[in-house]
Amino acid sequence: MKSTASFSKSSETQASALTKVSVLGATGSIGLKTLEIVRQFPQKFQIEALSCKSSIEQLREQIIEFKPRIVCVDTSGQASELKETFSIGQGSPETEFVWGREGLKQISSDDETDLVVAGIVGAAGLEPTYSAVEAGKIVAVANKEPLVMAGELFMQTAKKTGAKLLPTDSEHNAIFQSLHNEPSERIARLILTASGGPFRDLPLDKFEQITLAETLNHPNWEMGRKITIDSATMMNKGLEIIEAQWLFNVSVEKIDVLMQRESIIHSMVEFIDGSFLAQMGLPDMRVPIAYCLGWPERLPLKIPRLDPVALNALHFEAIDTQRFPCLSLSLKAAKQGGGSPAVLNGANEEVVAAFLNEEIRFVDIFKTLATVMGKLDETLHYAEPECLDEIPNFLLNIKSLEDAIQADQWGRKQVGKVLELIN
Ligand SMILES: NC(=O)c1ccc[n+]([C@@H]2O[C@H](COP(=O)([O-])OP(=O)(O)OC[C@H]3O[C@@H](n4cnc5c(N)ncnc54)[C@H](OP(=O)(O)O)[C@@H]3O)[C@@H](O)[C@H]2O)c1
Repeated sequence: MKSTASFSKSSETQASALTKVSVLGATGSIGLKTLEIVRQFPQKFQIEALSCKSSIEQLREQIIEFKPRIVCVDTSGQASELKETFSIGQGSPETEFVWGREGLKQISSDDETDLVVAGIVGAAGLEPTYSAVEAGKIVAVANKEPLVMAGELFMQTAKKTGAKLLPTDSEHNAIFQSLHNEPSERIARLILTASGGPFRDLPLDKFEQITLAETLNHPNWEMGRKITIDSATMMNKGLEIIEAQWLFNVSVEKIDVLMQRESIIHSMVEFIDGSFLAQMGLPDMRVPIAYCLGWPERLPLKIPRLDPVALNALHFEAIDTQRFPCLSLSLKAAKQGGGSPAVLNGANEEVVAAFLNEEIRFVDIFKTLATVMGKLDETLHYAEPECLDEIPNFLLNIKSLEDAIQADQWGRKQVGKVLELIN
């Protein structure tokens, strides 16, 4: 795989005045911030397509404001209902309404679109993000789970189609900015920073009593519910390690995590000559999103600025893996490779959904995932020699989207079994 030096916007896109943007997950935290930037720069961006799952009223307002050419919703019923209201004079009667998995693929590979913002949460973004890559688009990748599930496949396909994957997660964007096209051979180490989330100082004997409301109360970032839970368990950092491995073509062994309480240093690169380059700023996702939308230019964003004097000090700490055991689970999955990251990701989505529904406690998240990954270990490593052929291929290798989906489903199914025993 080629290193970051291969990133360059096509001359066609640079020449056109307006970048046509499709936003997958327009009603989410990433989607809303993307639209805020588009709103600030109407001379630079035009919304081509929008999607959501169930926030129809919010989407309706976005359609009126941005007049997209295509809109994707979850069901044909939602699409017909929207089509009807818009054909009787509200907003843009020219808008086409599509739905479901096929609809998402259609808007992400749409001929008119220059840039796709992958802002769906979780594995649901796998197929549409891949469609955008297959169609050779510029893809602002916030939705990390597809790369966790099938990173190698994404990077191979991007190489074939010329798609550009622009790292939008704040940590990966910081690395992208710090690397500034230097080849991966010059990287000694990538250091992903982590705020430590709401429980970074909580005594370990209090973990049994953690509530959902406390978990959703992140000290530094305002994000969607799933990633906020992942930040509290530090599974998010684990998923980011796997994502970084593919985006920057470095081995997992060369990726470290440090706690940076203030969330000011968004990540760093240590080069082979001992130089460190970091990107810093207030914790504000509009910065990395705008960097990707405007790339390779920078946009004059109107946002609160960092005052280094007021900041006074920056703190770095090693990660306490006893406090954040999910990080070790994800590191193991990353090193194992094959279908392990997709299994872990699917399992994690299921467990987080159960926690958000208040069906399990915070501490059950790790316990359940550890049991699932133990089951995976057993399947992969302790099969009797005569049973080796029975190990499903998708656990060993991810060669297609279908493999990634099957590994994800395998992880989810194991969670179901464990939760049956808990409840
Ligand atoms: N938020 C951040 O600051 C941040 C930072 C870094 C990376 N990320 C990554 O960006 C992605 C999005 O995060 P987020 O915080 O923006 O999530 P979010 O606020 O929960 O928004 C998710 C978006 O995806 C849509 N969606 C959810 N499930 C869907 C499905 N099954 N099919 C189609 N659309 C679906 C939602 O539609 P409805 O509104 O209709 O449900 C919503 O528009 C995640 O992968 C996350 O890890 C986020």
